Amino acid sequence: MSDHSNLTEHHIFAPLDPEPRLLMGPGPVDVYPRVLGAMSSSMLGQFDPQFTEYMNEVMTLYRQIYRTDNHWTLLVNGTARAGIEACLNSLISPGDRVLIPIFGRFGHLLTEIAERSGADIINLQAEWGTVFTVDQIADAIKQHKPQILALVHGDTSTTMAQPLNEIGPLCRKLGVLTYVDATATLGGMPLETDSWCLDAVSAGLQKCMSGPPGTSPVTLSNRAVERIQQRKHVEAGIRSADSDDGDGIVIQSNYFDLAMLMDYWSPRRLNHHTESTSMLYGARECARVVLQEGLEEGFDRHKVASKALRNGLTAMGLSLFGDPANRMNNVTGILVPPEIVDESLVRKSMLEDFGIEIGTSFGPLQGKIWRIGTMGYVCRKANVLRCLSSFENVLRRQGFVSDQGVGVDTACAIYDATDN
Ligand SMILES: Cc1ncc(COP(=O)(O)O)c(C=O)c1O
Repeated sequence: MSDHSNLTEHHIFAPLDPEPRLLMGPGPVDVYPRVLGAMSSSMLGQFDPQFTEYMNEVMTLYRQIYRTDNHWTLLVNGTARAGIEACLNSLISPGDRVLIPIFGRFGHLLTEIAERSGADIINLQAEWGTVFTVDQIADAIKQHKPQILALVHGDTSTTMAQPLNEIGPLCRKLGVLTYVDATATLGGMPLETDSWCLDAVSAGLQKCMSGPPGTSPVTLSNRAVERIQQRKHVEAGIRSADSDDGDGIVIQSNYFDLAMLMDYWSPRRLNHHTESTSMLYGARECARVVLQEGLEEGFDRHKVASKALRNGLTAMGLSLFGDPANRMNNVTGILVPPEIVDESLVRKSMLEDFGIEIGTSFGPLQGKIWRIGTMGYVCRKANVLRCLSSFENVLRRQGFVSDQGVGVDTACAIYDATDN
Protein backbone atom coordinates (compact mmCIF):
# COMPACT_ATOMS: atom_id res chain seq x y z
CA MET A 1 0.00 0.00 0.00
CA SER A 2 1.34 3.46 -0.85
CA ASP A 3 2.09 5.65 2.16
CA HIS A 4 2.19 8.75 -0.06
CA SER A 5 5.71 9.41 1.27
CA ASN A 6 6.86 10.33 -2.24
CA LEU A 7 4.44 13.29 -2.37
CA THR A 8 6.60 16.37 -2.13
CA GLU A 9 5.60 19.99 -1.51
CA HIS A 10 6.07 20.40 -5.25
CA HIS A 11 3.34 17.81 -5.97
CA ILE A 12 0.89 19.12 -3.44
CA PHE A 13 1.08 22.76 -4.44
CA ALA A 14 1.40 22.26 -8.20
CA PRO A 15 -1.75 23.37 -10.03
CA LEU A 16 -4.01 20.68 -11.46
CA ASP A 17 -2.90 20.12 -15.01
CA PRO A 18 -3.93 16.66 -16.22
CA GLU A 19 -2.75 15.65 -19.65
CA PRO A 20 -5.76 15.84 -21.96
CA ARG A 21 -7.33 12.48 -22.82
CA LEU A 22 -9.91 11.41 -25.34
CA LEU A 23 -12.29 9.32 -23.24
CA MET A 24 -13.53 6.51 -25.47
CA GLY A 25 -14.18 3.94 -22.78
CA PRO A 26 -17.62 3.03 -21.39
CA GLY A 27 -17.84 6.33 -19.45
CA PRO A 28 -17.11 8.83 -18.12
CA VAL A 29 -16.57 10.65 -21.40
CA ASP A 30 -15.35 14.14 -22.27
CA VAL A 31 -17.67 16.85 -21.01
CA TYR A 32 -19.32 19.39 -23.33
CA PRO A 33 -17.33 22.65 -22.97
CA ARG A 34 -20.61 24.53 -22.45
CA VAL A 35 -21.31 22.29 -19.46
CA LEU A 36 -17.91 23.01 -17.90
CA GLY A 37 -18.59 26.70 -18.45
CA ALA A 38 -22.02 26.52 -16.80
CA MET A 39 -20.56 24.74 -13.80
CA SER A 40 -18.30 27.66 -13.01
CA SER A 41 -21.26 30.05 -12.60
CA SER A 42 -21.69 31.79 -9.23
CA MET A 43 -22.82 29.83 -6.23
CA LEU A 44 -26.40 30.50 -5.14
CA GLY A 45 -28.22 29.67 -1.95
CA GLN A 46 -30.58 26.74 -2.24
CA PHE A 47 -33.69 28.84 -1.57
CA ASP A 48 -32.64 31.77 -3.74
CA PRO A 49 -35.52 32.31 -6.21
CA GLN A 50 -32.99 32.30 -9.05
CA PHE A 51 -31.83 28.86 -7.98
CA THR A 52 -35.28 27.38 -7.39
CA GLU A 53 -36.21 28.63 -10.85
CA TYR A 54 -33.23 26.70 -12.24
CA MET A 55 -34.53 23.63 -10.40
CA ASN A 56 -37.90 24.07 -12.12
CA GLU A 57 -36.17 24.46 -15.47
CA VAL A 58 -34.23 21.26 -14.85
CA MET A 59 -37.52 19.44 -14.27
CA THR A 60 -38.91 20.77 -17.55
CA LEU A 61 -35.74 19.95 -19.50
CA TYR A 62 -35.45 16.38 -18.20
CA ARG A 63 -39.12 15.69 -18.94
CA GLN A 64 -38.18 16.28 -22.56
CA ILE A 65 -35.01 14.19 -22.31
CA TYR A 66 -36.98 11.33 -20.74
CA ARG A 67 -39.90 11.86 -23.10
CA THR A 68 -42.41 12.00 -20.29
CA ASP A 69 -45.13 14.14 -18.81
CA ASN A 70 -44.13 12.94 -15.33
CA HIS A 71 -44.27 15.93 -13.02
CA TRP A 72 -41.73 14.28 -10.72
CA THR A 73 -38.63 14.49 -12.84
CA LEU A 74 -35.76 15.68 -10.69
CA LEU A 75 -32.11 15.21 -9.74
CA VAL A 76 -30.69 12.95 -7.06
CA ASN A 77 -27.21 14.11 -6.03
CA GLY A 78 -24.63 11.39 -6.44
CA THR A 79 -23.48 9.26 -9.36
CA ALA A 80 -25.86 7.09 -11.39
CA ARG A 81 -25.86 4.54 -8.60
CA ALA A 82 -27.42 7.17 -6.33
CA GLY A 83 -30.42 7.41 -8.66
CA ILE A 84 -30.72 3.62 -8.68
CA GLU A 85 -30.50 3.48 -4.92
CA ALA A 86 -33.04 6.29 -4.47
CA CYS A 87 -35.56 4.58 -6.74
CA LEU A 88 -35.14 1.08 -5.35
CA ASN A 89 -34.90 2.14 -1.70
CA SER A 90 -37.99 4.30 -2.04
CA LEU A 91 -40.07 1.85 -4.07
CA ILE A 92 -39.19 -1.41 -2.31
CA SER A 93 -40.56 -2.07 1.16
CA PRO A 94 -39.04 -5.02 3.00
CA GLY A 95 -40.62 -8.24 1.77
CA ASP A 96 -41.73 -6.87 -1.61
CA ARG A 97 -41.17 -9.32 -4.40
CA VAL A 98 -38.90 -7.88 -7.09
CA LEU A 99 -38.06 -9.53 -10.40
CA ILE A 100 -34.58 -8.63 -11.65
CA PRO A 101 -33.45 -10.08 -14.97
CA ILE A 102 -29.65 -10.00 -15.15
CA PHE A 103 -27.79 -9.75 -18.46
CA GLY A 104 -24.59 -8.10 -17.22
CA ARG A 105 -22.85 -6.52 -14.26
CA PHE A 106 -25.44 -3.86 -13.64
CA GLY A 107 -28.28 -6.34 -13.17
CA HIS A 108 -26.17 -7.67 -10.31
CA LEU A 109 -25.91 -4.12 -8.98
CA LEU A 110 -29.71 -3.72 -9.03
CA THR A 111 -29.97 -7.03 -7.20
CA GLU A 112 -27.46 -5.97 -4.58
CA ILE A 113 -29.28 -2.69 -3.94
CA ALA A 114 -32.71 -4.33 -3.91
CA GLU A 115 -31.40 -6.93 -1.46
CA ARG A 116 -30.26 -4.21 0.91
CA SER A 117 -33.77 -2.72 0.64
CA GLY A 118 -35.15 -6.02 1.97
CA ALA A 119 -36.65 -7.26 -1.30
CA ASP A 120 -37.66 -10.84 -1.90
CA ILE A 121 -35.70 -11.16 -5.15
CA ILE A 122 -36.29 -13.36 -8.14
CA ASN A 123 -33.42 -13.26 -10.62
CA LEU A 124 -33.44 -14.39 -14.22
CA GLN A 125 -30.08 -14.91 -15.89
CA ALA A 126 -29.21 -14.40 -19.54
CA GLU A 127 -25.84 -15.33 -20.95
CA TRP A 128 -23.68 -12.20 -21.16
CA GLY A 129 -23.93 -10.88 -24.70
CA THR A 130 -27.64 -11.64 -24.96
CA VAL A 131 -30.84 -10.09 -23.59
CA PHE A 132 -34.30 -11.38 -22.59
CA THR A 133 -37.31 -12.09 -24.76
CA VAL A 134 -40.65 -10.62 -23.76
CA ASP A 135 -41.95 -14.16 -23.26
CA GLN A 136 -39.23 -14.95 -20.73
CA ILE A 137 -40.20 -11.89 -18.71
CA ALA A 138 -43.93 -12.59 -19.09
CA ASP A 139 -43.52 -16.20 -17.91
CA ALA A 140 -41.49 -15.10 -14.89
CA ILE A 141 -44.08 -12.48 -13.95
CA LYS A 142 -46.88 -15.01 -14.21
CA GLN A 143 -44.96 -17.55 -12.16
CA HIS A 144 -43.58 -15.29 -9.43
CA LYS A 145 -46.08 -12.42 -9.31
CA PRO A 146 -43.63 -9.66 -8.38
CA GLN A 147 -44.75 -6.19 -7.37
CA ILE A 148 -41.78 -4.63 -9.16
CA LEU A 149 -39.64 -5.42 -12.21
CA ALA A 150 -36.20 -3.80 -12.10
CA LEU A 151 -33.93 -3.99 -15.10
CA VAL A 152 -31.15 -2.28 -16.99
CA HIS A 153 -31.76 -0.70 -20.38
CA GLY A 154 -28.21 -0.65 -21.77
CA ASP A 155 -25.70 -2.69 -19.76
CA THR A 156 -22.29 -1.22 -20.54
CA SER A 157 -20.53 -4.31 -19.18
CA THR A 158 -21.82 -6.41 -22.08
CA THR A 159 -22.71 -3.56 -24.50
CA MET A 160 -26.21 -5.05 -24.86
CA ALA A 161 -29.49 -3.09 -24.88
CA GLN A 162 -32.66 -4.73 -23.56
CA PRO A 163 -35.69 -3.76 -25.69
CA LEU A 164 -38.32 -2.29 -23.37
CA ASN A 165 -41.10 -1.24 -25.70
CA GLU A 166 -43.15 -4.39 -25.05
CA ILE A 167 -41.95 -5.18 -21.53
CA GLY A 168 -43.21 -1.89 -20.06
CA PRO A 169 -46.77 -2.21 -21.42
CA LEU A 170 -46.84 -5.89 -20.39
CA CYS A 171 -45.93 -4.94 -16.81
CA ARG A 172 -48.51 -2.16 -16.76
CA LYS A 173 -51.17 -4.67 -17.89
CA LEU A 174 -50.15 -7.15 -15.22
CA GLY A 175 -49.99 -4.53 -12.45
CA VAL A 176 -46.22 -4.70 -12.04
CA LEU A 177 -44.29 -1.48 -11.45
CA THR A 178 -41.21 -1.06 -13.65
CA TYR A 179 -37.89 0.49 -12.66
CA VAL A 180 -35.27 0.99 -15.40
CA ASP A 181 -31.58 1.89 -15.14
CA ALA A 182 -30.97 4.05 -18.22
CA THR A 183 -27.57 5.35 -17.10
CA ALA A 184 -25.81 4.51 -20.31
CA THR A 185 -28.60 5.07 -22.83
CA LEU A 186 -30.17 8.39 -21.85
CA GLY A 187 -29.49 10.83 -24.68
CA GLY A 188 -27.80 8.16 -26.81
CA MET A 189 -30.57 5.71 -27.68
CA PRO A 190 -34.34 6.08 -27.82
CA LEU A 191 -35.89 5.91 -24.35
CA GLU A 192 -39.63 6.49 -24.30
CA THR A 193 -40.62 6.68 -20.65
CA ASP A 194 -44.33 7.30 -21.22
CA SER A 195 -45.07 5.31 -24.32
CA TRP A 196 -43.11 2.33 -22.96
CA CYS A 197 -45.07 2.64 -19.66
CA LEU A 198 -41.95 2.86 -17.45
CA ASP A 199 -42.70 3.90 -13.86
CA ALA A 200 -39.30 4.92 -12.54
CA VAL A 201 -36.19 5.58 -14.59
CA SER A 202 -32.81 6.85 -13.47
CA ALA A 203 -29.58 7.74 -15.23
CA GLY A 204 -26.26 9.51 -14.89
CA LEU A 205 -24.68 12.38 -16.76
CA GLN A 206 -21.28 10.92 -17.58
CA LYS A 207 -22.27 8.83 -20.59
CA CYS A 208 -24.31 10.12 -23.54
CA MET A 209 -25.30 13.31 -21.70
CA SER A 210 -21.58 14.22 -21.59
CA GLY A 211 -21.58 15.78 -18.17
CA PRO A 212 -19.44 14.92 -15.16
CA PRO A 213 -20.46 12.09 -12.85
CA GLY A 214 -22.20 13.38 -9.74
CA THR A 215 -25.91 13.87 -10.21
CA SER A 216 -28.60 11.51 -11.38
CA PRO A 217 -31.73 12.57 -13.28
CA VAL A 218 -34.74 10.51 -12.16
CA THR A 219 -38.32 10.42 -13.41
CA LEU A 220 -41.31 8.90 -11.60
CA SER A 221 -44.81 8.06 -12.86
CA ASN A 222 -47.88 8.81 -10.73
CA ARG A 223 -48.02 5.11 -9.84
CA ALA A 224 -44.48 5.20 -8.54
CA VAL A 225 -45.12 8.44 -6.66
CA GLU A 226 -48.24 7.02 -5.01
CA ARG A 227 -46.25 4.05 -3.74
CA ILE A 228 -43.45 6.25 -2.46
CA GLN A 229 -45.76 8.76 -0.78
CA GLN A 230 -47.30 5.97 1.28
CA ARG A 231 -43.89 5.70 2.95
CA LYS A 232 -43.36 9.39 3.51
CA HIS A 233 -42.05 10.41 6.93
CA VAL A 234 -40.79 13.96 7.28
CA GLU A 235 -37.67 14.07 9.48
CA ALA A 236 -38.15 15.43 12.98
CA GLY A 237 -36.15 18.65 12.78
CA ILE A 238 -38.22 20.06 9.90
CA ARG A 239 -41.56 18.46 10.69
CA SER A 240 -44.56 20.76 11.08
CA ALA A 241 -48.00 20.15 12.54
CA ASP A 242 -49.47 19.61 9.08
CA SER A 243 -46.85 17.04 7.94
CA ASP A 244 -48.68 14.57 5.74
CA ASP A 245 -46.93 11.29 6.61
CA GLY A 246 -47.93 8.04 4.97
CA ASP A 247 -48.59 4.87 6.90
CA GLY A 248 -46.07 2.67 5.05
CA ILE A 249 -42.66 1.54 6.30
CA VAL A 250 -40.16 4.41 6.58
CA ILE A 251 -37.77 4.53 3.63
CA GLN A 252 -34.53 2.95 4.78
CA SER A 253 -32.22 5.71 3.53
CA ASN A 254 -32.60 9.34 4.53
CA TYR A 255 -30.36 10.72 1.78
CA PHE A 256 -32.13 8.71 -0.93
CA ASP A 257 -35.67 9.22 0.40
CA LEU A 258 -37.54 10.28 -2.73
CA ALA A 259 -40.60 11.31 -0.70
CA MET A 260 -38.51 13.92 1.11
CA LEU A 261 -36.70 14.87 -2.09
CA MET A 262 -40.05 15.53 -3.76
CA ASP A 263 -40.91 17.92 -0.92
CA TYR A 264 -37.65 19.73 -1.57
CA TRP A 265 -38.35 19.93 -5.32
CA SER A 266 -41.97 21.05 -4.72
CA PRO A 267 -43.09 24.66 -4.15
CA ARG A 268 -42.86 23.93 -0.40
CA ARG A 269 -39.04 23.65 -0.78
CA LEU A 270 -38.99 21.69 2.45
CA ASN A 271 -35.30 21.41 3.18
CA HIS A 272 -33.54 18.11 2.66
CA HIS A 273 -29.83 18.14 1.67
CA THR A 274 -28.11 21.18 0.19
CA GLU A 275 -28.64 20.74 -3.53
CA SER A 276 -25.34 20.34 -5.38
CA THR A 277 -25.44 23.74 -7.04
CA SER A 278 -22.70 23.35 -9.64
CA MET A 279 -23.91 19.88 -10.62
CA LEU A 280 -27.39 21.29 -11.15
CA TYR A 281 -25.95 23.96 -13.44
CA GLY A 282 -24.09 21.20 -15.28
CA ALA A 283 -27.15 18.95 -15.56
CA ARG A 284 -29.21 21.86 -16.87
CA GLU A 285 -26.60 22.63 -19.53
CA CYS A 286 -26.23 18.96 -20.57
CA ALA A 287 -29.96 18.80 -21.24
CA ARG A 288 -29.91 22.08 -23.16
CA VAL A 289 -27.05 20.89 -25.40
CA VAL A 290 -28.75 17.56 -26.07
CA LEU A 291 -32.17 19.10 -26.77
CA GLN A 292 -30.72 21.84 -28.96
CA GLU A 293 -29.15 19.21 -31.18
CA GLY A 294 -32.46 17.30 -31.14
CA LEU A 295 -32.94 13.91 -29.51
CA GLU A 296 -33.48 12.07 -32.79
CA GLU A 297 -30.49 13.78 -34.41
CA GLY A 298 -28.37 12.77 -31.42
CA PHE A 299 -29.57 9.15 -31.59
CA ASP A 300 -28.66 9.07 -35.30
CA ARG A 301 -25.22 10.49 -34.59
CA HIS A 302 -24.60 7.68 -32.08
CA LYS A 303 -25.89 5.06 -34.47
CA VAL A 304 -23.72 6.20 -37.36
CA ALA A 305 -20.59 6.49 -35.21
CA SER A 306 -21.08 2.97 -33.85
CA LYS A 307 -21.66 1.64 -37.34
CA ALA A 308 -18.54 3.35 -38.69
CA LEU A 309 -16.45 2.13 -35.76
CA ARG A 310 -17.80 -1.42 -35.95
CA ASN A 311 -17.38 -1.73 -39.70
CA GLY A 312 -13.85 -0.35 -39.37
CA LEU A 313 -12.99 -2.87 -36.65
CA THR A 314 -14.39 -5.85 -38.52
CA ALA A 315 -12.60 -4.75 -41.71
CA MET A 316 -9.42 -4.94 -39.64
CA GLY A 317 -10.25 -8.60 -38.97
CA LEU A 318 -11.52 -8.17 -35.41
CA SER A 319 -14.70 -9.81 -34.07
CA LEU A 320 -17.36 -7.92 -32.16
CA PHE A 321 -18.89 -9.18 -28.93
CA GLY A 322 -22.56 -9.96 -28.35
CA ASP A 323 -25.81 -10.46 -30.19
CA PRO A 324 -25.77 -8.02 -33.16
CA ALA A 325 -29.56 -7.55 -32.93
CA ASN A 326 -29.38 -6.03 -29.46
CA ARG A 327 -26.22 -3.99 -29.30
CA MET A 328 -26.19 -0.56 -27.70
CA ASN A 329 -25.62 2.30 -30.11
CA ASN A 330 -22.91 3.85 -28.02
CA VAL A 331 -20.53 1.19 -26.68
CA THR A 332 -18.83 -1.48 -28.78
CA GLY A 333 -17.40 -4.72 -27.41
CA ILE A 334 -14.45 -6.24 -29.29
CA LEU A 335 -13.17 -9.76 -28.62
CA VAL A 336 -9.47 -9.74 -27.78
CA PRO A 337 -7.90 -11.78 -30.62
CA PRO A 338 -5.65 -14.75 -29.76
CA GLU A 339 -2.61 -12.93 -31.19
CA ILE A 340 -2.75 -10.47 -28.29
CA VAL A 341 -1.02 -12.00 -25.29
CA ASP A 342 -1.73 -9.21 -22.79
CA GLU A 343 -4.70 -7.02 -23.63
CA SER A 344 -3.84 -4.53 -20.89
CA LEU A 345 -0.76 -3.49 -22.89
CA VAL A 346 -3.06 -2.44 -25.72
CA ARG A 347 -5.08 -0.20 -23.41
CA LYS A 348 -1.89 1.14 -21.88
CA SER A 349 -0.43 2.05 -25.24
CA MET A 350 -3.70 3.60 -26.42
CA LEU A 351 -3.63 5.79 -23.31
CA GLU A 352 0.04 6.60 -23.08
CA ASP A 353 1.01 6.83 -26.75
CA PHE A 354 -2.22 8.23 -28.20
CA GLY A 355 -4.02 9.78 -25.22
CA ILE A 356 -7.11 7.65 -25.85
CA GLU A 357 -8.82 5.77 -23.04
CA ILE A 358 -10.62 2.54 -23.90
CA GLY A 359 -11.83 -0.11 -21.43
CA THR A 360 -12.01 -3.83 -20.85
CA SER A 361 -15.01 -5.27 -18.98
CA PHE A 362 -15.90 -6.99 -15.72
CA GLY A 363 -16.43 -10.48 -14.35
CA PRO A 364 -16.42 -13.16 -17.07
CA LEU A 365 -15.49 -10.56 -19.69
CA GLN A 366 -12.53 -9.07 -17.79
CA GLY A 367 -9.57 -9.15 -20.16
CA LYS A 368 -11.68 -10.94 -22.80
CA ILE A 369 -13.13 -7.90 -24.54
CA TRP A 370 -12.28 -4.26 -25.06
CA ARG A 371 -15.02 -1.68 -24.86
CA ILE A 372 -14.92 1.43 -26.99
CA GLY A 373 -17.49 4.12 -26.27
CA THR A 374 -18.81 6.64 -28.76
CA MET A 375 -20.93 8.70 -26.43
CA GLY A 376 -22.13 12.29 -26.28
CA TYR A 377 -19.53 14.92 -27.09
CA VAL A 378 -16.99 12.23 -27.99
CA CYS A 379 -19.29 10.66 -30.55
CA ARG A 380 -18.03 12.29 -33.75
CA LYS A 381 -16.27 11.33 -36.94
CA ALA A 382 -12.82 12.72 -36.11
CA ASN A 383 -12.72 10.73 -32.86
CA VAL A 384 -13.87 7.50 -34.49
CA LEU A 385 -11.15 7.83 -37.12
CA ARG A 386 -8.51 8.83 -34.59
CA CYS A 387 -9.41 5.82 -32.45
CA LEU A 388 -9.33 3.37 -35.36
CA SER A 389 -5.98 4.54 -36.70
CA SER A 390 -4.40 4.47 -33.23
CA PHE A 391 -5.92 1.07 -32.47
CA GLU A 392 -4.57 -0.36 -35.72
CA ASN A 393 -1.10 0.88 -34.87
CA VAL A 394 -1.17 -0.39 -31.28
CA LEU A 395 -2.53 -3.79 -32.26
CA ARG A 396 0.15 -4.17 -34.93
CA ARG A 397 2.88 -3.47 -32.41
CA GLN A 398 1.31 -6.03 -30.06
CA GLY A 399 1.18 -8.74 -32.74
CA PHE A 400 -2.21 -8.36 -34.47
CA VAL A 401 -1.63 -7.12 -38.01
CA SER A 402 -4.34 -5.81 -40.33
CA ASP A 403 -4.20 -4.13 -43.74
CA GLN A 404 -2.85 -0.66 -43.17
CA GLY A 405 -5.57 1.99 -43.23
CA VAL A 406 -8.44 -0.43 -43.80
CA GLY A 407 -10.24 0.47 -40.56
CA VAL A 408 -10.19 4.19 -41.24
CA ASP A 409 -11.08 3.76 -44.93
CA THR A 410 -14.07 1.60 -44.04
CA ALA A 411 -15.31 4.04 -41.39
CA CYS A 412 -14.88 6.95 -43.81
CA ALA A 413 -17.02 5.11 -46.34
CA ILE A 414 -19.82 4.81 -43.78
CA TYR A 415 -19.62 8.52 -43.02
CA ASP A 416 -19.50 9.36 -46.74
CA ALA A 417 -22.75 7.47 -47.19
CA THR A 418 -24.54 9.50 -44.48
CA ASP A 419 -25.08 13.15 -43.66
CA ASN A 420 -23.44 12.91 -40.17
C1 LIG B 1 -25.73 0.71 -16.87
C2 LIG B 1 -25.02 1.33 -15.71
N1 LIG B 1 -25.67 1.44 -14.53
C3 LIG B 1 -25.08 2.00 -13.46
C4 LIG B 1 -23.80 2.47 -13.51
C5 LIG B 1 -23.18 3.03 -12.26
O1 LIG B 1 -22.90 4.37 -12.45
P1 LIG B 1 -22.07 5.26 -11.42
O2 LIG B 1 -20.68 4.74 -11.47
O3 LIG B 1 -22.21 6.63 -11.98
O4 LIG B 1 -22.69 5.14 -10.08
C6 LIG B 1 -23.09 2.38 -14.70
C7 LIG B 1 -21.69 2.86 -14.80
O5 LIG B 1 -20.93 2.50 -15.65
C8 LIG B 1 -23.72 1.80 -15.84
O6 LIG B 1 -23.09 1.70 -17.02
